[in-house]
Amino acid sequence: MRKTFIPILLVVILGSAMLFSSFKTGDKKDKTEQRVEDLLSKMTLEEKAGQLNFVVGDLFNTGPTVRTSESDKFNEAIRKGEITGIFNIHGAAYTGKLQKLAVEESRLGIPLLIGADVIHGFKTVFPIPLGEAASWDLTAIEKSARVAAKESAASGINLTFAPMADVARDARWGRTAEGAGEDPYLVSLITAARVKGFQGNSLSDPLTIAACVKHFVAYGAAEAGRDYNTVDMSEYELRNTYLPPFKAALDAGSATLMTAFNELNGVPATAHTKVMRQILRDEWGFNGLVISDWQNIWEMTSHGYAQDNAHAGELALKAGTDLDMMAEIYLKELPQLVKSGKVEQKYLDDAVRRVLWLKFKLGLFDNPYLYSNTKTEKKQVRSKEHLQAAFEVAQRSIVLLKNENTLLPLSASKKQKIAVIGPLGNNKEDMNGTWSFFGEAQHPVSFLEGIKKYAKGTEITYAEGCELYSDSRAKFDEAVAAAKKADIVVMAIGESAVMNGEGASRANISLPGVQLDLVKAIHATGKPIIALVSSGRALELTWLDENIPTILATWSLGSEAGNAAASVLFGEYNPSGKLPVSFPRSVGQLPLYYNHKNTGRVYEGDHSEPGSERVYKSRYRDVPNTALYPFGYGLSYTTFKYDNLKLSTDKLAPAGQLQVSIDVTNTGKYAGEEVIQLYTRDLVGSITRPVKELKKFQKLTFTPGEKKTVMFTLTPEDLAFWRADLTYGTEPGDFKVFVGPNSRDVQEVSFTLLKDGSVKYESSIKN
Ligand code: NOJ
Repeated sequence: MRKTFIPILLVVILGSAMLFSSFKTGDKKDKTEQRVEDLLSKMTLEEKAGQLNFVVGDLFNTGPTVRTSESDKFNEAIRKGEITGIFNIHGAAYTGKLQKLAVEESRLGIPLLIGADVIHGFKTVFPIPLGEAASWDLTAIEKSARVAAKESAASGINLTFAPMADVARDARWGRTAEGAGEDPYLVSLITAARVKGFQGNSLSDPLTIAACVKHFVAYGAAEAGRDYNTVDMSEYELRNTYLPPFKAALDAGSATLMTAFNELNGVPATAHTKVMRQILRDEWGFNGLVISDWQNIWEMTSHGYAQDNAHAGELALKAGTDLDMMAEIYLKELPQLVKSGKVEQKYLDDAVRRVLWLKFKLGLFDNPYLYSNTKTEKKQVRSKEHLQAAFEVAQRSIVLLKNENTLLPLSASKKQKIAVIGPLGNNKEDMNGTWSFFGEAQHPVSFLEGIKKYAKGTEITYAEGCELYSDSRAKFDEAVAAAKKADIVVMAIGESAVMNGEGASRANISLPGVQLDLVKAIHATGKPIIALVSSGRALELTWLDENIPTILATWSLGSEAGNAAASVLFGEYNPSGKLPVSFPRSVGQLPLYYNHKNTGRVYEGDHSEPGSERVYKSRYRDVPNTALYPFGYGLSYTTFKYDNLKLSTDKLAPAGQLQVSIDVTNTGKYAGEEVIQLYTRDLVGSITRPVKELKKFQKLTFTPGEKKTVMFTLTPEDLAFWRADLTYGTEPGDFKVFVGPNSRDVQEVSFTLLKDGSVKYESSIKN
């Protein structure tokens, strides 16, 4: 039976966003706003348009370019006030010279925004964001962003194009690597942690940078996982799944936001008035800077939404896109659009106000060289402390997927022969992963180097076996020979850095090239194999799972990759990572995510089960519906027992709360960390609800034999969602609570939410 609605008041809370929140409109202006107005009043139309023009270090590239040296290319444009900032350049000396030019040689002396894709570290490279997400460690993730901010800010950068808040449920999409996975709650928490890490407590601190949450919105839902592709989705889905991480990032204070490449329900995101004016500005009260993605404004003609550049510029500005990245349309078209009356001046002025406001808040007007200090740069970049932080996050990002016969951990002191085999075995560059322009190729510690360092007294051999993607089997024999001579084989296989990230969608998500054949050839030797599988997405690992005793997901682990992996292999660190995405059995299951709907024809059995009952069910004929490794999954060298799941009450009052408790015991012989996960299911709703939704988790450490009673508090606010009438709140009725080590292996209890539960609309990110 359908439940009755509980109408609730929608209260938009701006929360901590106010800390950084942008200028306020209206009569009462603070000091910064007054300075903005004074400057604005002196600007010509052309200078205003120039403040909305953001260019990359080398013009006309299809992707980011990193410049470190002086060039005359931008000098004239900076002098004329035609550029608001330059991105993907770095270096305290170089950026300092550009700032000097802007401040001393342009008419109004407005300093520059220096932006960059600082995505997972700077010169000290941390694991790719999807890898970091597998740590489920918000403190470590915030610290990673903090380190990235320190290093990049010291190199002249004052704005990063991160974090990516896009929920990603289709592993074919290459940019899965850049986000925090498939779950809106986990993505929200992690995105907020990253914002805090980048921005610290003050934007004008010389060691912090402004964050830019991206890509607004629903970019991760690109049809068929093909980058930049079309998105068409209901408003419920948008609000319940794709918007929360953006709200969380803005609540955490993100100073800026970037629009997405995709169209959403027929309208390119960069001109989407509904999401930008109604939701972002009016409902959420965000008054910070909105930046277009690369040439997005220009692409509106390809979308078939704008007839020419001027039309595209008009649509984008009116919809709320303030800054034009790389299209130069605002620069060229806005003065005339305003003069002709097609665009009201207030749109232009508001956009310029936001840019100036940010530059003031970054401290650039008070000291344009704040971020361009060569001494600080030298001290910060790749410091010992930063590399240690990268090492610790990398350890926490590794997920143990299988450990049959407890092959791991290896003994470092035992006399044994280990063969390291595979194209990622002695590879440094690919350890940096996607989006790591600033990390140098020669810096990362390779798996081979890490293993050699840890396994003292052990004989280590190496054979590449094959290249990452080539078809050649020419090196197979050498690898097989190395395996035969060894006691244990460590295979380092997976994707290269460029196989994921922007424009790196894959229709096939198995091991690239002939790598699987190489694994089969080594497997035929009968030697025990430990597979280190690096990737920027969930891969199809079905054969490996059936045949290889020990498998670890090692993503792209960054500067300290080899040390982190070796510390896990030799048991110095007991793996604690949990998957932030479901690993499918077959690419044909995609999109695959644990928090799906039930359907009217549920099928939970095995696909090969005989009988006519299964025929008209929601299933595949050839693979089960379930994930090979579910969301939240990850093993440890120790084992954990979960029992005694209890609720403090089975009736949750409207303004009440209920305590969920469960006993977790370390039943193995190693100390270890466990991520205890709590999910709920709303059994009947005014719109159908997911079969499970992550609501809480705790990552705790247990000594051998230790038992802890783990407590969670649930309130009606945790159960709220966007309902059939597009209001936000709860609906009374029956719920299930599940607790366990992953989204599949859970225990459950039930409770009822009583009538009249009203909640206010806040970010859903409290853990
Ligand atoms: C395009 C990407 O989509 C965006 O995320 C990135 O920040 C810009 N290029 C700038 O490099």
